[in-house]
Amino acid sequence: MSVRLDPLTGVLQGAAVKESRRTLAGLTGYFRDEAARAAMDQDRLAYRVQAYEPKPEGERGAVCCATTFLEPGTVGDEYFLTRGHFHVNEDCSELEVTVSGTGLLVLMTAARRTWTEPMRAGSVHHVPPGTAHRVANTGDAPLVFVSYWPSETGHDYGTIVERGFGARVRRIDGQPAIVPEPD
Ligand code: F6R
Ligand code: ZN
Repeated sequence: MSVRLDPLTGVLQGAAVKESRRTLAGLTGYFRDEAARAAMDQDRLAYRVQAYEPKPEGERGAVCCATTFLEPGTVGDEYFLTRGHFHVNEDCSELEVTVSGTGLLVLMTAARRTWTEPMRAGSVHHVPPGTAHRVANTGDAPLVFVSYWPSETGHDYGTIVERGFGARVRRIDGQPAIVPEPD
């Protein structure tokens, strides 16, 4: 079994690589302006993920990796984003390595303390244990990054669906702004 990660493009290839696509229809409820999202082309691609998971999700004993290709764009004044999640196993951290593009990694503790880190080619980001993470593309080109996490991690999307993050990344006066969001 062989897997190849192209270091210039982030493309992951091999029989064991699985690709998933998330359109605007699959991001219902994630943006501040839901009416603006609903008025857009529901088939428009927001991001693709190519994942190599040597063990099934939740089973320990392996390291997984995935490349995310997050398209540029906005919904209302909010930049295209990934859904974001906590890890079920709170001991599990993650690394994000940016391949190309520009954006912000949004991080949030269980107590909703929220901060961001700028992403650009070559930037490496550690997501500490117990920290929710989401990415927003603030540039004009796809934002491509590779994530690495332990196979026993598990993914909790429900908490973010219910409560969101403590801040949103919005385009205000043409510039990215990190705007606190009430709970
Ligand atoms: C894995 C991880 C990334 C994301 C990907 C898509 O733990 O954090 O590979 O899964 O960037 O984002 P979500 O999964 O939040 O839709
Ligand atoms: Zn993760």
